[in-house]
Amino acid sequence: MRTELLKADENGLKCAAEIIRSGNTVVFPTETVYGLGANAADEEAVKKIFEAKGRPSDNPLIVHIADTESVQPLVSEIPEKAKRLMERFWPGPLTIIMRKSSLIPKCVTAGLDTVGIRMPDNSAARELIRLSGCPIAAPSANISGKPSPTSFKDVLKDMDGRAGGIIEGEPSRVGVESTVIDMTGETPAILRPGGVTAEQIENEIGEVIGSRALKDEETPKAPGMKYRHYAPSGRVYILKGTAAAAAAFVHRKARTGKKTCVLCFDEFKPYFDEGLVTFISLGSKNNPEEAASRLFAALRYTDELKAQLVFAPEIPENGLWRAVRNRLYKAAAENILDAEDAKSVLFVCTGNTCRSPMAEGIFAASFKGTYVSSAGIAAADGEGASENAVLAMKNMKLDISAHKARKLTPSILNDADIILTMTAGHKAMLSGCKNVYTLSEYAGEAYDIPDPYGGDEETYMRCAEILKKLILKIRL
Ligand code: TXA
Ligand code: MG
Repeated sequence: MRTELLKADENGLKCAAEIIRSGNTVVFPTETVYGLGANAADEEAVKKIFEAKGRPSDNPLIVHIADTESVQPLVSEIPEKAKRLMERFWPGPLTIIMRKSSLIPKCVTAGLDTVGIRMPDNSAARELIRLSGCPIAAPSANISGKPSPTSFKDVLKDMDGRAGGIIEGEPSRVGVESTVIDMTGETPAILRPGGVTAEQIENEIGEVIGSRALKDEETPKAPGMKYRHYAPSGRVYILKGTAAAAAAFVHRKARTGKKTCVLCFDEFKPYFDEGLVTFISLGSKNNPEEAASRLFAALRYTDELKAQLVFAPEIPENGLWRAVRNRLYKAAAENILDAEDAKSVLFVCTGNTCRSPMAEGIFAASFKGTYVSSAGIAAADGEGASENAVLAMKNMKLDISAHKARKLTPSILNDADIILTMTAGHKAMLSGCKNVYTLSEYAGEAYDIPDPYGGDEETYMRCAEILKKLILKIRL
């Protein structure tokens, strides 16, 4: 698709509104992140949003408006407390969920009878909505699963060729998406932490659900929160422990030949050896606004560097930190390591392009709190995972596309607490090392895992299923 690149001036916004009215999509800046918008009342146009993003259709969209009078026709009623929130926080990073009216098609709300509405604090965004003459449904303008774009440059990477138009605006000021609050229940509930904090909301309307630190399973969530999200291609780990212990852990891993990034606060920069790792700043540890506004660009930058490993610190749970923590921990798929005593598991095969990278991917998704990597006895350093291994993992909703083969070295072996090989032959070759087992032996079985090398996708899928079955039986 040809994408019109537009300025956020009178001409550009008129042109963008014309594209929206013609039933196509436009990317526009907001104070939180860039949005991919279409006429919320036009089902065909809304479908184009889901296509451009590759977004699952069971994840509802937020409807953006330019003035409070526009809310009434879109909902069946406006609860009193919702009115107070609108007065206090709009325009701004707060999405309010109410019961929808028949003006909102079901595809916008993924079949729900509620709709999320927000008025963005960005004058170009509101002018676009006014000129279009309709409410604009818009998710964040990223490819589904990737970090949301907070600058024109990042938007271009994801949406050039996928949207009807892109408006070049300022970098997003807040940097994390809006807070989503459900006002349809007896007690309001925060479904996604964001730019307006729970503390600010409670000050305005009293008690809300989801304002305190709850265990993950106790917190109500927006439908979209169940998906893997905000993830760069490299594997992200949260490291807990002192700065010195964290730095020692990071350096040890970087020395095993992995391209490594540290996403961290400026105060901790002196601990890291920048000859070994790339330090990406989240600003000061006392400044959640700065961390929020830098986070998504920082995660995207790790992709530009082709980082395979990304380490980030623990994040507090109060105020705006809660939104930063939520996004970063999701990017890490909740993989939190204790820098002092996290175990390191190493999978070993022959070429490190088929079996062991798949085993590594499956293991990382099932074991949180353990570091995992892989290597090959006869690997060619730097070779990617085989195409069918990547496809087989994709079928399991796992991404190993950033994998680079490593030939087994003493430093890789020394770094591992447990070494799991694919065959008895591999194990025999490592007979001088401690803690070496075949994967099936460690899982209480006794067979070699056949090499799918050169086989079709089906062959790789079968191999992946065997690996998964064994890995799920492992007890560390
Ligand atoms: O800051 C933002 O909110 C940005 C900008 C572009 O406005 N938009 C955004 O949209 O983040 P999106 O689609 O990436 O995230 C919307 C979230 C999803 O988690 C979705 O499940 C939830 O809001 N949501 C939308 N409508 C909902 C509804 N009716 N009930 C529950 N959750 C809803
Ligand atoms: Mg999003």
